[in-house]
Amino acid sequence: MLFNDNRFNLENYTILLVDDNPTNLAVAVEHLEECGLNVLVSQDGESALTRAKFARPHLILLDVLMPGIDGFETCQRLKADRELQEIPVIFMTALSSPDDKIRGFEVGGIDYITKPIEQRELLARVATHLKIHALAQSLEIQNQLLKEKVNERTQELEESLQKLQKSQLQLVQSEKMSSLGQLMSGVAHEINNPIGFIKGNLSHSAGYLEDIFGYLELYEKHYPSPDPEILEWAEDIDLEYLRDDLPKAINSMKDGADRLQEISQALRTFSRADTTEQIGFDLHQGLDSTLLILKHRLKARETHPAIETIKNYGKLPEIYCFPGQLNQVFMNILSNAIDALEEKNVGRSFAQIQADPNRIAIATELTGQQAIVRIRDNAAGMSEEVRQHIFDTHFTTKAVGKGTGLGLAIAKQIVEEKHEGTLTCTSKVGEGTEFAIALPMGE
Ligand SMILES: Nc1ncnc2c1ncn2[C@@H]1O[C@H](COP(=O)(O)OP(=O)(O)OP(=O)(O)O)[C@@H](O)[C@H]1O
Ligand SMILES: [Mg+2]
Repeated sequence: MLFNDNRFNLENYTILLVDDNPTNLAVAVEHLEECGLNVLVSQDGESALTRAKFARPHLILLDVLMPGIDGFETCQRLKADRELQEIPVIFMTALSSPDDKIRGFEVGGIDYITKPIEQRELLARVATHLKIHALAQSLEIQNQLLKEKVNERTQELEESLQKLQKSQLQLVQSEKMSSLGQLMSGVAHEINNPIGFIKGNLSHSAGYLEDIFGYLELYEKHYPSPDPEILEWAEDIDLEYLRDDLPKAINSMKDGADRLQEISQALRTFSRADTTEQIGFDLHQGLDSTLLILKHRLKARETHPAIETIKNYGKLPEIYCFPGQLNQVFMNILSNAIDALEEKNVGRSFAQIQADPNRIAIATELTGQQAIVRIRDNAAGMSEEVRQHIFDTHFTTKAVGKGTGLGLAIAKQIVEEKHEGTLTCTSKVGEGTEFAIALPMGE
């Protein structure tokens, strides 16, 4: 029997019996109490509602025909009350027409018992519904627990995913940095010595040349009419032109060597082995060396004029930072600007581009305790939808193989996590894009 189920103890349950004439049910009630149930009694609908509110019975046995509000109305009000609507209601009725029974279900009852009441039937129904209700409640609790567990796991998974993405970024970044950095400093080192001796020998050669030309002048002064063979030779080699041009050639070689040295210096600044500690760094030097490395992408081609770079540097103190990493931020943002300008140039003629030249403007300023670097381009800009995703890992609008979608995610991580700064972007379709890097001065 249901109520003999040893996991289901009726003593833990309270039921509310609502009948204007409970004495009619006295025998049944007695039987219910004997089985251990705690039975409360109300004689009309209104007081039953009040009673239910205080006593919170586990089940209500409700008479239909009562003075005042009848059982159906009482049930309706009960079901409209958020705190009470879960309590199961069993109607007790002498009415036996199908309409009355259906009405009972419609207003929210779960079962009915016809009067005169048969006590074993009453007990069986009460016990069954209490049990169903208890099971439903425990199911609800289990469900809730399960939901919480699922949420917890989901959150854990999301956190691990984020961690994974972060370490992937760090890995890519340090991999990029170390291989690129090693290559660059290797190249810089290799070309530095040859440049050194080219420059040294050039300045000696310039001196020697002056000496030789002086000697030649002296010769001409004292021997104004040399042998015809000498005159002929001088004419063949166009001595006058040579005298004028050779020093110029030497000077332009010097310029070339100076530029090589500059590039080598920039390569070394850019790839300066990434320090494990923050050190003082001149951001302008970082920006300039990055621009120099990107020079081949900025200069004029057959299809388009050079990209104009407009520098508007303010006065900045040295910033405590990881210079190699910040250089990489500059590199990623400037490369994106160049990519965007190149894309804008597609389908435009040289003359058209010249009329509305490609520009990258770099401005720096100090505001309060922060150094701000703004890098702006006048490419096609991006839609708000794209803008919202540019810092996401692997987000790219570029062709497969052209972009990995990591550049800005890495830049954001470097600026915001490694340097506690901010990296923000504003963009307008048809006008261009600006990235603002704000860095605390550190120390
Ligand atoms: N200056 C810009 N103008 C217009 N769109 C830009 C600009 N900078 C970035 N974007 C957009 O942001 C996207 C993400 O840039 P991000 O540098 O992270 O990746 P990527 O350049 O596509 O690939 P890579 O990993 O090679 O840098 C780009 O694909 C582009 O759509
Ligand atoms: Mg990029």
